[in-house]
Amino acid sequence: MTEASNARFNTEALSWDTNPDVQRATALAHTAYLARLPSDPAILSTYDVLDLGCGTGLLSLALAPAVRSVTAVDPAEGMIDALRTKLSSQAQEEEEGKEPIRNVLPVCALLQDPDDPLLATDPVTNSPRPNRRFDLAVSHLVLHHVPDLRSFFRTVHGCLAPGGRLMVTDFENFGPDARKFHPESKMDGVERHGLRRDEMQALLEEVGFVDVSVETAFELEKKVETEPGSGVMGPTVVFPFLICQGRKAG
Ligand SMILES: C[S@@+](CC[C@H](N)C(=O)[O-])C[C@H]1O[C@@H](n2cnc3c(N)ncnc32)[C@H](O)[C@@H]1O
Repeated sequence: MTEASNARFNTEALSWDTNPDVQRATALAHTAYLARLPSDPAILSTYDVLDLGCGTGLLSLALAPAVRSVTAVDPAEGMIDALRTKLSSQAQEEEEGKEPIRNVLPVCALLQDPDDPLLATDPVTNSPRPNRRFDLAVSHLVLHHVPDLRSFFRTVHGCLAPGGRLMVTDFENFGPDARKFHPESKMDGVERHGLRRDEMQALLEEVGFVDVSVETAFELEKKVETEPGSGVMGPTVVFPFLICQGRKAG
């Protein structure tokens, strides 16, 4: 996480949810996760989930009704503030008869320590739970911003309970066109133009995950710049997204 990246996401936080590409990508990722998670609600509803790089909480809020809790972590204060606003503005929805979401805990942090005290609150009971561990870690559209993926996944591995699962999604580096995912004006904080499947497989195994798999989860068609740096969006490109999975032994 660089300062430029943090500044970018603080600036973009307020308009993040208005981007239709972001909404579509989240919906597709949510579907991809659910298809690979236990279909038995009695099992899934026991899961404590960690969402890393949660942004404004689009995926966290989508998963929340199906699981026990979501701890939603992001280093950009603006993103976490947007999520806090959504959670606190649910009184209105409650009045309208909608079920409010009460099992999501927003945390502003660049997580580097599984025992970070900021994770040590149970989102459901609000009581302290030092050194708590998670049944599932998810992260969507984040890895291309992470400078040191090895260190990131070591931390995630440490955050999981024995047997806990990892599921992360991001676009694939499928060749030179992968660079077009971002307009040239939004390259701040972009560390790589997508994920390479062989590198992800080797990295997750090296960090200690078992049952590692990397596969195409879905495709996202989106408009890209007519010419690099033109700022004019024109042709569409189909971007494959990978889902990288693993499990902590135990
Ligand atoms: C493209 S946004 C995706 C947000 C959200 N997951 C979504 O799909 O709407 C990337 C997010 O990753 C966060 N981020 C950047 N570097 C990170 C890091 N090293 N660890 C965790 N999150 C990071 C940013 O603050 C930003 O909110």
